[in-house]
Amino acid sequence: MTSTETIGFELSQGALRARRNAKWNQYGPDVLPAFVADMDFSVAAPIQAAIERIVRDRDYGYPLRNGERADRLVARVFAERMKSRYGWELSPDLVLPMADLVQGTCASILAFSDPGDGVVLQTPNYPPFRDAINSVGRRLLALPMRDDGTRHVFDMTELEKLVDRQTRIFLLCNPQNPTGRVFSRDELTALGQFAVERDLIVVSDEIHSDLVYPGHQHIPFASLGPEFAARTVTLTSATKSFNIPGLRCALIAFGTEDLRNRFHKRIPSKLTGSANIAGADATVAAWSECQPWLDAVMQHLLTARNRVRDVLAAEAPEIRFHAPEGTYLAWLDCSKLGLSTSAFQFFLDHARIGFSAGETFDPDCTQFVRLNFATSMPILDDILARMIGATRQNNR
Ligand SMILES: Cc1ncc(COP(=O)(O)O)c(C=O)c1O
Repeated sequence: MTSTETIGFELSQGALRARRNAKWNQYGPDVLPAFVADMDFSVAAPIQAAIERIVRDRDYGYPLRNGERADRLVARVFAERMKSRYGWELSPDLVLPMADLVQGTCASILAFSDPGDGVVLQTPNYPPFRDAINSVGRRLLALPMRDDGTRHVFDMTELEKLVDRQTRIFLLCNPQNPTGRVFSRDELTALGQFAVERDLIVVSDEIHSDLVYPGHQHIPFASLGPEFAARTVTLTSATKSFNIPGLRCALIAFGTEDLRNRFHKRIPSKLTGSANIAGADATVAAWSECQPWLDAVMQHLLTARNRVRDVLAAEAPEIRFHAPEGTYLAWLDCSKLGLSTSAFQFFLDHARIGFSAGETFDPDCTQFVRLNFATSMPILDDILARMIGATRQNNR
């Protein structure tokens, strides 16, 4: 038994296949899924206990928790967490819980821009963001993340050229999905100054912010100073780091009251709904009681990330990969393999691995795949062995 198995969060393949989630049911039993951003781990005990209590008491009515509405408790616990982790002080009154982050992103785009306005998105990026921008008739302005040989970076000069008078929003994803970049203070400050100059709203998705590796530090965009906070809408949840995306509880934190009021002029509070009781209780448990679980998971993810880096460098160096600074996602550049199909199709057909297809993150990225390495070591080793086998066959 490895030390991580004794902690008890890694699930066996049998247990995973018995579940009813999308990740382990989309493909047949010969395919190893490595796509959607779920972790193959069981949840922390306090989260399980919070949900079991609701079920035990058959307590499915409108919730009150310690004398306050459940979504207000989520808002307060979030504000406390931001203060203690990052020194970012915000009032819980500026925090609006809702069901999910993509909903919050779409609502923010509607609130802070008009049809035809530009929304900047670093590409590649999480596919629902592209859909959200397009589906409400805004113009997607793609700011490429460029491989500088060690990591992916964006260029401020390119950004200046891209942004026209009718651009209203910079949709930031930090840590970035799929490149795993955790943007530095300098990068974020440059972006913030630009947003001030051009009067842009920054919609900052920070859902992966707990999942940051040693040597890097997450900085909430709104914490950089009041001038930046005044134009920042932060979106986050406990769902990625605590592995509870099906429970549907997320939040929007407005940098100022003025921003919140602007938002509600277009998006009435009655339209945003609220989190469900299981999601709210699980989120409160996650943020207030589950740090030891997350610390153990991060140890495991660091080992897994380094395993991917070392094994690919030794056995399949044609696959280009910069170890992510955050997230459990690896963005793999397979263009040197010289494939006749998309990289996604190649690995599905020849290795029986279900990656996320690169082209869903950026139409130009057909030769990329995204690997989710948040799984047990035996499953990860199987994935890597299958990749190496298929790559060697292809080289023959
Ligand atoms: C960057 C990012 N934002 C949002 C989400 C999804 O959030 P939700 O399920 O709350 O819409 C994900 C899921 O993988 C993600 O990676």
